[in-house]
Amino acid sequence: MTRGIAILGSTGSIGRNTLDVVDRLGDTFRVTALAAGSNMTLFAAQVEKYRPALVSVSDRRDAEKIRGISRRWRTKVVHGPEGAVEVARADGADIVVSAITGMSGFRPTLEAVRAGRRVALANKESMVVGGAILRREAVRSGAKIIPVDSEHSGVFQCLNKERGRYVRKVILTASGGPFFRTPLKDLPHKTLEEALRHPRWVMGRKVTVDSATLMNKGLELIEARWLFDLEPAELDVLIHPQSAVHALVELEDGSVLAQLSATDMRIPIQYALTWPSRRDTGLPGLDLARIKRLEFRKVDERRYPLFALAREALRAGGSLPVALNAANEVAVAAFLEKKILFPDLRAVVAEVMAEHRARPADSIEAITDIDKEARREARRFIPQR
Ligand SMILES: NC(=O)c1ccc[n+]([C@@H]2O[C@H](COP(=O)([O-])OP(=O)(O)OC[C@H]3O[C@@H](n4cnc5c(N)ncnc54)[C@H](OP(=O)(O)O)[C@@H]3O)[C@@H](O)[C@H]2O)c1
Repeated sequence: MTRGIAILGSTGSIGRNTLDVVDRLGDTFRVTALAAGSNMTLFAAQVEKYRPALVSVSDRRDAEKIRGISRRWRTKVVHGPEGAVEVARADGADIVVSAITGMSGFRPTLEAVRAGRRVALANKESMVVGGAILRREAVRSGAKIIPVDSEHSGVFQCLNKERGRYVRKVILTASGGPFFRTPLKDLPHKTLEEALRHPRWVMGRKVTVDSATLMNKGLELIEARWLFDLEPAELDVLIHPQSAVHALVELEDGSVLAQLSATDMRIPIQYALTWPSRRDTGLPGLDLARIKRLEFRKVDERRYPLFALAREALRAGGSLPVALNAANEVAVAAFLEKKILFPDLRAVVAEVMAEHRARPADSIEAITDIDKEARREARRFIPQR
């Protein structure tokens, strides 16, 4: 039976890989709705190819352009944050792939969960800011949230076997990013171009910068806390430069389960779509004889101070993860525009966290207020030019 699929962030790295998986699987999936931001050249080509019933873009004028080209087959075109929410609730979509970057992905993800869809979740920031709410709403609606992040897909696959029981510890791995071997004294001078040169994965710019600072792994710890209902003390990270092992699950009897695969996001994306079954990806398996050595190291928090801040937010819970995420989004955007330098990423997030007034983040309104306040605070540290 063909299943309907909606993709939030179809022009991004995860979105494009998802469409690649959909193409390969032939008639298994039908694209019913797509949402993108502002890459209209690519989005127009996607709309033309898949002819979904509903599409959304960020800007009203871009929506007009897409309406022009899709008139012949009557695609409905909407725009803005409400447009993305409409795509998340689209009729006929059994699966919603949540792959918008940052906090903008939160409301669409929440609405897909509320609508009881299977949500293939790449947008980790949603879980960071509203994990408790997403869990609660999933229980209410019967939605199933399946991780796309390779590490969380690894945990999910290990836990499938044990049905979540007997878990002592969950360990996510991190490649260490481009600065893993950089002498500490040279780190303050690292440039945007160097930060964007990830040794293992080709990804969007925001997540690539987060991987250089290891904030990405910090966000992933908070994501894992909610996805798998674990206490902060049950979660850990190991640096594993080969990126072959994505996650390790230690069980009460001392056994450790691991999930390994090649570094290709199409593997976890496809699993989130086809779960609980598996299909041939057409991709080569993992050549361990060629890799030869698998190394694991503890995280050095002097090298990755943003990871230490994320761990602090994980332990504190409440509003601090929301503030951490907001400050980091503002700082990374400024770094991408070359308004701040590499060490300023930490400085901005640390300042916002130090100033933050902790409170519960137990409603959408509370989360939105905390997010806005932290962004305002973070912008005070960004030079305006
Ligand atoms: N890439 C990976 O390998 C990877 C792995 C694990 C998890 N993730 C997570 O997956 C998410 C997406 O990552 P990515 O690497 O695919 O990022 P990306 O390449 O930057 O793509 C982001 C997508 O979101 C769209 N978008 C951004 N803001 C939007 C808004 N306000 N409204 C509607 N659409 C918007 C973009 O549209 P336009 O480009 O058209 O503007 C694009 O389609 C992130 O949360 C990331 O942490 C990514």
